[in-house]
Amino acid sequence: MALPGKSENPAPLLAALRREQANRTPIWFMRQAGRYLPEYRALRAKAGSFLDLCLAPELAAEATLQPLRRYDLDAAIIFSDILLIPYALGQTLSFVEGDGPRLDPPLRSDLKRLCKPAAFDRLEPTIEAIGRVRRELSADKALIGFAGAPWTIATYMMAGEASADPSSLRMRFYEDRGFLTELMEILIETTSRYLIAQVEAGADVLQLFDSWAGGLPEDALAALSLKPMRKIAAAVKAKRPSIPIIFFPKGVGAAAESYARLPECDAISIDQAMPWEWARAHLSPHAVVQGGLDPLLVVHGGEAMEESAQRLTKTFAGVPYVFNLGHGLPPETPPDNVARLIEIVRRACEACEA
Ligand code: CP3
Repeated sequence: MALPGKSENPAPLLAALRREQANRTPIWFMRQAGRYLPEYRALRAKAGSFLDLCLAPELAAEATLQPLRRYDLDAAIIFSDILLIPYALGQTLSFVEGDGPRLDPPLRSDLKRLCKPAAFDRLEPTIEAIGRVRRELSADKALIGFAGAPWTIATYMMAGEASADPSSLRMRFYEDRGFLTELMEILIETTSRYLIAQVEAGADVLQLFDSWAGGLPEDALAALSLKPMRKIAAAVKAKRPSIPIIFFPKGVGAAAESYARLPECDAISIDQAMPWEWARAHLSPHAVVQGGLDPLLVVHGGEAMEESAQRLTKTFAGVPYVFNLGHGLPPETPPDNVARLIEIVRRACEACEA
């Protein structure tokens, strides 16, 4: 089914990420496809489970497109999960309803048990879904591919589940640095190849999620988050120099500036705790800023959401900026609040540009 608004205009998200004069502020949301949408819940029920949905290219493509059929968004993000990488490396992956993801067996020191990066059949459905989505999207909509950054993936691989305090796994950095370094290298290679395949299949932009970068001390942050993310971005850009890459080192505070200064970092996504004025002054000169609005405000809606969205848009008036949240849309989000938010941002941007 064709989407409304087919046109040959270049995608506003790509224009913003290239720091070109955009005709409008691009908007997309992390977890824009997901449980808050009734049509997503119906699709997941049809697939059987979340993982079945990720692994069925036709259904994953449909989940990707659902939010764009409903809302005036500038980008689709491929429907998949960062934990498909450990799954491709041979861990058993399941999502227990109400209890989060499980990876079995948890990774202790047995790196040899991981599959060689040649056996990536398990990632093929996502690559196929990217091709399907790109063929259905008009040129003014960007398709975002993604992967988890090595540290975040490593925390899930080691804990075998979502841990209460992922940054405490940094103990391995002191106790067994060789193990962690080797694991990082495996994840850097696997993730680079996976992202290159995503771009070859039709992804126009990539985002690297380091959801658990927060809480690492400076030296561990450099070794486990910044450098591995940089290596992945460099490997992808060596093959595809023009692909824009968004870094999302969540919870790192002022250290975000070190990421934004990397030549491989085109854009930096900020979480809700990041002060906006600080981000404009310290990040915007180096990389395009994305995000920042508290996702709970979209659950709450009303004037508080409106006031905050307007203030955020105003903070970044005059510099390239990508409207998004500080993290994903929660499952409790009323879908009408998302529509309202988009309307407010569109109107606020017109006012800023006038
Ligand atoms: O719309 C999109 O943003 C694209 C799809 C996407 C999903 N996960 C789908 C998903 C993306 C980009 C992700 C990334 C992801 N997955 C991250 C990084 C971003 C972040 O949230 O910090 C992480 C840490 C994961 C791992 C993960 N996946 C967890 C911890 C969970 C369980 C918690 C939860 O929210 O349910 C998932 C499941 C998951 N991934 C769902 C979706 C839509 C919910 C699954 C369901 O339908 O029940």
